[in-house]
Amino acid sequence: MAEPVRTELPADKAERYVALRAEIAAVIEGEPNLIARYASAASLLAEAFPDRFFWTGFYLVDESKGDELVIGPYQGTLGCLRIRFGKGVCGACAARGETIIVPDVHAFPGHIACDSRSNSEIVTPVFDKAGALAAVLDVDSTQFNAFDTVDQTGLEAICADLLTLP
Ligand code: SME
Repeated sequence: MAEPVRTELPADKAERYVALRAEIAAVIEGEPNLIARYASAASLLAEAFPDRFFWTGFYLVDESKGDELVIGPYQGTLGCLRIRFGKGVCGACAARGETIIVPDVHAFPGHIACDSRSNSEIVTPVFDKAGALAAVLDVDSTQFNAFDTVDQTGLEAICADLLTLP
C-alpha cells in the first residue's frame, strides 16, 4: 500500500498535484463515458499519494433519488454503498457544495465509518458543465490531519476538470 510507485512525479506536493492534473486531463480528454473519467482519476490519485491516500473514490449523485449519493469508482477497501445528503462528511460536502477537510473523523458529528482505520479525510465536490453537483471525491487517510489547503487546491483543480474537459 505504501510503496512509492510514482517516483518520477515531483516530490513537492503542490507540484505533484500540478503534474497529476495534467496527466489526468491527458487521460480523460475526449472520453465521453463519465465512469471512465472517475475511475481513471481515482486510480491516478491513489497511486500518486499511496502513503496518505488509504481510500480514494467518488460518490455520485443518484439522479433517481435527488438527495442521495451512491458509490462510484474507487480505490481501497469496501465503501458504504449509499450516503444521504447531510450525512457524514461526504453528505455534508454534497449538501454544502464545498470542500471539507476533517483532521480527526472521530470528532466529526455523524461521521460514517466505512473502515475504522480511517482517521482523517478530505471531500471535494465535482460539478458538471452546467454547474450542478454531480459527485463528491472522498479521500480518507489512516493518518490524523493528513490533508491541508495544498490538497484542497490540488483536488479542487482536478475535480473542476473531470466533467468539463471536452
Ligand atoms: N468517510 C465518509 C464515508 C465514506 S467512506 O469512509 C468510504 C463519510 O463520513 O462521509
